[in-house]
Amino acid sequence: MESPLQILVVDDEPAIRQVLVGTLRKAGYTVEQASSGEDALEILLKGAVDVVICDIRMPGMDGIELVKRVRAQGMDTLFLIMTAFASVNTAIEAMRAGAYDYMIKPLRKEDVLHRLVQMGNVIRLQDENRTLRQIIRGHGVFPLVSPAMQRLERQIQKVARTDHTVLITGESGTGKSVHAKAIHDASPRTAALFIPVNCGSIPEQLLESEFFGHMKGAFTGADRNKKGLFLEADQGTLFLDEIGELPLHLQVKLLHALEQNQVRAVGSEQFRKIDVRIIAATNKNLKAMVSEGTFREDLYFRLNVFSIHIPPLRERPQDLEVLMDHFLQKNSAKLGGGVILTLSTEAREALLSYDWPGNTRELENALERAAILTEDGHIGLEDLPDSVAACGTAAPRGEDPTLRAGSKSLRDRMRNMEIELILQAIEEADGDRKQAARELGIGLSSLYRKLEQAQVPRL
Ligand SMILES: Nc1ncnc2c1ncn2[C@@H]1O[C@H](COP(=O)(O)OP(=O)(O)OP(=O)(O)O)[C@@H](O)[C@H]1O
Ligand SMILES: [Mg+2]
Repeated sequence: MESPLQILVVDDEPAIRQVLVGTLRKAGYTVEQASSGEDALEILLKGAVDVVICDIRMPGMDGIELVKRVRAQGMDTLFLIMTAFASVNTAIEAMRAGAYDYMIKPLRKEDVLHRLVQMGNVIRLQDENRTLRQIIRGHGVFPLVSPAMQRLERQIQKVARTDHTVLITGESGTGKSVHAKAIHDASPRTAALFIPVNCGSIPEQLLESEFFGHMKGAFTGADRNKKGLFLEADQGTLFLDEIGELPLHLQVKLLHALEQNQVRAVGSEQFRKIDVRIIAATNKNLKAMVSEGTFREDLYFRLNVFSIHIPPLRERPQDLEVLMDHFLQKNSAKLGGGVILTLSTEAREALLSYDWPGNTRELENALERAAILTEDGHIGLEDLPDSVAACGTAAPRGEDPTLRAGSKSLRDRMRNMEIELILQAIEEADGDRKQAARELGIGLSSLYRKLEQAQVPRL
């Protein structure tokens, strides 16, 4: 469903505002008004406006300045500038500053409405572009391909449009936080704030005031009123991360807030209504915690209205492959200079056979590290963390090392001996190649070079 455009009319002359606002409302638009550039900016920063119809000459901040200020905030709100015939030049200046179009006063109703239809189309394209850009730049959630994640993606799109509480479960690093944000971004609440809070990282005695706010003087150190996260997230989404860490007495208060849609600041008598969407996440088994008595059953049911489980990466080999490519591209772009990172066959194999206990986060880190270590952009086993590299093709063990290369020449045999000594030193140093190099009295890079030359796939 398309929502009607939200329009802001800015003019210092009340009569013009009144006529324009009336016309636009009759045409079905949602309209706000401001009598100065300063007031307009304040409204615009809240982020709900699609189109600004703005007079160019105003005392204080004029139309051009307003356009500039909004652009400086990185907002792409469209501006339609109103100008008197005599100051068309200024209107052109406004266009240079980033306005979409201008109209010469006196305005004709059909003209205004026609341009708004055009601008509606531009906004739709902007939205589409934004989505595409997010995918290309790798911000937000990269689209995954495994059947499990595709089903999950569809669920997310559906639940995003509702106000249901969502509980996201999954091992650490599977993407719970990014998916929580994705739900908010796909929801009608996207213009308001998404506020993440890690329930495990706030000291217990501060949690209540962090959540619900406090009044000045409520306790020692409360030297001013504090709003609290629920109120901060009003109209938006509050993401309660690590919900399993919430102490029992706060679980009671949270349940109360969720059931009544109201909160009471510490030290206040009054309850305040809130309109907040809750998403919670945990890598704990809440059900087991309920049986153990460490998580309240009633809160569990209240949170578990709609639950999403993100399976571990090792159960989604298709995603592992696309994510590997995604992170390679992302790191190539970061390196710049036209570098395109590639994986050696052994490195790819190792990445695919490793079981990723730290899931997507561990994969992302491993490839970021490899991008830094690799010298020529071709990532080999030696650029991967030891635990991952160890999953590469294992060198045949227990075999006479001098025969490995299949050649009997003295030089080859000596080289094989050398490699075997290096591998032994690495093993004795518990995989620490730097230390192994030190023990052997050679430089780290020559250690790598020797391993590379001998095509030793396993480190
Ligand atoms: N689909 C995805 N596309 C791109 N990046 C992803 C995706 N899923 C996860 N990531 C990346 O993996 C990392 C871990 O994701 P996230 O922080 O959401 O995991 P989590 O499940 O919340 O972990 P924790 O339990 O430790 O809080 C992040 O850097 C995130 O950018
Ligand atoms: Mg997280």
